[in-house]
Amino acid sequence: MSTPNSAFDATEIDHTARRLANAHPSDIIAQALAHFDRITISFSGAEDVVLVEMAVREAAKLGRSVQVFSLDTGRLHPQTLEFVERVRDHYGITIATYSPLADAVESLVRDKGLFSFRRDGHQECCGIRKVEPLSRALADVDAYITGQRRDQSPGTRAEIPVVQLDPGFGRETQPLVKFNPLANWTSAQVWQHITAYQVPYNPLHDEGFKSIGCAPCTRATHPGEHERAGRWWWEEATQKECGLHAINLK
Ligand code: ADX
Ligand code: SF4
Repeated sequence: MSTPNSAFDATEIDHTARRLANAHPSDIIAQALAHFDRITISFSGAEDVVLVEMAVREAAKLGRSVQVFSLDTGRLHPQTLEFVERVRDHYGITIATYSPLADAVESLVRDKGLFSFRRDGHQECCGIRKVEPLSRALADVDAYITGQRRDQSPGTRAEIPVVQLDPGFGRETQPLVKFNPLANWTSAQVWQHITAYQVPYNPLHDEGFKSIGCAPCTRATHPGEHERAGRWWWEEATQKECGLHAINLK
């Protein structure tokens, strides 16, 4: 990559994505941390905890700390909230929590009730509870790291690169750089890492939850069912992106 903290243009992103395409997630994170000072990890409180584990280890080698944030939508399972707290204690890190704007939530619930997403789709609620808070979480960084994987959703994530520009959240003058270090890893590889490095994990995974989002929009899946079947199961599979990763929808 180029000099530290320099912005990436589209050509350099393509070049870097090709160069890191088969790199180990830890190496991708190491290079991301080495290049950007203002970089944060987007942690959902699920198996993406491996990002935190790898980043803490790689940051220690560079003599620096990691920046992590979590979007508390107000509808997460209590187990997920407890788990985020556990991760904070376990790794001795700060996890910034972003909540939705109270006025927007009050207005949505007043007008449409608490479960409007079951009638008219999840976009409006996700927009208020996830996307707007994400824009604040990313306001002061140049790059961020997500736990997206290709195998999470054949419909929308089959082609995600390990690094890309995110025009959705970046500033016009300097687009945000989005690292997806787990893009090429399978769920099995993530779980092997969790076991090998004794990484704490969300107890909901032991109750059949393969993918974890908000409580009313997440359910346990049966063996053999794809993990995305446990998210917004009343909606069309190809639209199962909440807006955090709108860039995946063509
Ligand atoms: S979602 O868009 O469908 O909700 P998913 O649950 O697959 O996303 O998670 C993919 C990645 O999106 C996570 O690894 C994380 O980087 C980011 N993400 C999702 N939900 C949150 C959240 N509540 N807080 C922070 N990051 C999140
Ligand atoms: Fe709302 Fe469900 Fe989206 Fe959570 S996942 S923000 S509850 S629609």
